[in-house]
Amino acid sequence: VQGPQRRGLRQRMINKESIKIIQKTEDYIMARKKIIAGNWKMNMTPSEAVELVNTLKPLVVNDEVDVVFCVPAIDIIPAMEAAKGTNINIGAENMYFEEKGAYTGEISPAMLVDAGVKYVIIGHSERREYFAETDETVNKKVLKAFEHELTPIICCGETLTQREQGVTIDFVRQQIKIAFLNVTAEQAATAVIAYEPIWAIGTGKVATTEQAQEVCKAIRDCIAEIYDDATAAAIRIQYGGSVSASNASELFAQADIDGGLVGGASLKPDFGKIVNYK
Ligand code: 13P
Repeated sequence: VQGPQRRGLRQRMINKESIKIIQKTEDYIMARKKIIAGNWKMNMTPSEAVELVNTLKPLVVNDEVDVVFCVPAIDIIPAMEAAKGTNINIGAENMYFEEKGAYTGEISPAMLVDAGVKYVIIGHSERREYFAETDETVNKKVLKAFEHELTPIICCGETLTQREQGVTIDFVRQQIKIAFLNVTAEQAATAVIAYEPIWAIGTGKVATTEQAQEVCKAIRDCIAEIYDDATAAAIRIQYGGSVSASNASELFAQADIDGGLVGGASLKPDFGKIVNYK
């Protein structure tokens, strides 16, 4: 086969390849299960934790979404026990990036895995602000989490000043790029990113759906740039910051928002309404 005929043949082959890629990307989008996680922060003693899990247990039943309660380290084991046989996954709020040793006060990834933990929040803005975590330590923790087959919920988000200066997307892209340094595409596809504008955390000041969707889309585009479209289509991106029973359904209906990371409202029966947002 020669000349125009050959070019036609090649074109048909290229078309077939792009259709395959589009289909693969669509499959991933279809397959993206929502993930709704509570971040208890520094709340609930072990006995209160058991009580709260027992209260929320019947309210958060929903097979269509992944439900995670990220709890203080000391609550992990009792909460895990109380959540047995339910759809609730117990997660951690932090971990250290070393295997073991002289790091007084820290929790290792192996400790979490042994306790049955699958998800761990990494780089929450409160950890960055009060405990000097940086993009570099976040990256170390993300790599360590993957090494132990823990799913990191990687937090990012801008301050009010950054938003007002118009640097939100540049700033969040930088956080994401550093957090994913040396992370493989296969690992990245299983990660969860939580976009949490700092000015919306615990303030009752929720980002508008347009603002939340805009940044979540920019994060997905950034993942596509680092990896490829299939990885970007697979990764799950949550919104966090004053998520409540009244705004969850609108937020989670956005194309690039795959659920939420919920603070205050995760400690109340309202969390059941957020999980069953539809
Ligand atoms: P609030 O839902 O209380 O605003 O907290 C959000 C948050 O920081 C979750 O990690």
